[in-house]
Amino acid sequence: MTAPITNIAAPRMMLVGGGTVGQIAEVLKKFSLRAPLVVSDKFMVSSGLIARVLDPLKAAGIEAAVFSDTVPEPVDTIIENGVAVLRGGRYDCLIGFGGGSPIDTAKAMAVLAAGGGKMRDYKVPAQADRADLPVIAIPTTAGTGSECTRFTVITDHERDEKMLISGLGALPLAAIVDYELTYTVPPRTTADTGIDSFTHALEAYISRRANPFSDALALAAMGLIGTHLRTAYHEPRNAAAREGMMLGATQAGLAFSNASVALVHGMSRPIGAHFHVPHGLSNAMLLPAITRFSVAAAPERYAAAARQGRFADQADDDAVACARLVEGLVALNRELKVPTPAEFGIDAAAWEAKLPLMAEQALASGSPNNNPRVPSAAEIVALYREVWRGEGGNA
Ligand SMILES: NC(=O)c1ccc[n+]([C@@H]2O[C@H](COP(=O)([O-])OP(=O)(O)OC[C@H]3O[C@@H](n4cnc5c(N)ncnc54)[C@H](O)[C@@H]3O)[C@@H](O)[C@H]2O)c1
Ligand SMILES: [Fe+2]
Repeated sequence: MTAPITNIAAPRMMLVGGGTVGQIAEVLKKFSLRAPLVVSDKFMVSSGLIARVLDPLKAAGIEAAVFSDTVPEPVDTIIENGVAVLRGGRYDCLIGFGGGSPIDTAKAMAVLAAGGGKMRDYKVPAQADRADLPVIAIPTTAGTGSECTRFTVITDHERDEKMLISGLGALPLAAIVDYELTYTVPPRTTADTGIDSFTHALEAYISRRANPFSDALALAAMGLIGTHLRTAYHEPRNAAAREGMMLGATQAGLAFSNASVALVHGMSRPIGAHFHVPHGLSNAMLLPAITRFSVAAAPERYAAAARQGRFADQADDDAVACARLVEGLVALNRELKVPTPAEFGIDAAAWEAKLPLMAEQALASGSPNNNPRVPSAAEIVALYREVWRGEGGNA
């Protein structure tokens, strides 16, 4: 059978490996860039981690300005502030340094500065193909994969909507993927960001828009994450585990950027927007229940994912492998102490009241249409209720 024609996009350059952040000045020079604005967050500055990028720049004679007012799960108003800072100086590139939030902020600043207007003007199905200046992305979590995706996710603060913005304007020019930056990530964030990465790989693999290019990367990522996530969570200084997770997160990013995500991400964004649950954590809350809902529509794919991710044995047939995937995701949530929505502190009545709107927003994002089993709004509401009851296994 001939594979479908696919449109593949990736950064022009990716430096991958321990210590590569020290080469930031060389990366800028390759592209004749010399006036960066570093987009980061308060923690990177207060912890001193920001020196890992500023020191090598300084040594090369490049004085970088820093915009560190980003917030976790970025909102449109912060992007507007960032664009004002950008306009106030003479910068030729942005360096997104941090987790997915600062990287997404840098990417959204580049998109908004190019076309003006409001951030919501760029949400899907619009195409955000233009950027005012290039972004070099340096992730410090493993992670969102944002360093190599054509997406940025920004909350519309007036509508409580986490918007997916997609296009070449949001794709970094270059990425530096240095796992040594992740040693300080605390266990909770290691778990949340690691499950986010696994979800990217799994959703890219079961997506209706999967293709041979994304499949290879998704399978490789599931192997790495299945092998290393628990160790990275329990032993933060374990170099092999941190390296495996970082590589897996980036591979997963390349996979889903070229195949899209599906129902978990579609239903996750509204939880983040309305209840301020970190992105990876809302994915983790949803993952067992949505996988159980979806497996029968693509058993061969889910079974291959289960074997690759070390949830099932090579000898297990598809039905057994699918069952073990669902059980394994439940067990993973227990081991990584993923709370239920109630344990996270969400009010039952507030959750119930928002479900119709959340279902509508999930469907409007388009991601559920990539799922092997495409749900109705009523089925999405039922899934949210199941997750609330903890039947996903995270009780
Ligand atoms: N653009 C994409 O393709 C894409 C994909 C998935 C998720 N996202 C978005 O990314 C955001 C989440 O990013 P995230 O999960 O990386 O979290 P984050 O960037 O919000 O960071 C979470 C916390 O971890 C801290 N942190 C980051 N690196 C650290 C380090 N090395 N040591 C200690 N602490 C560190 C941060 O300061 C912050 O407090 C969400 O907004 C989500 O929607 C984007
Ligand atoms: Fe994600």
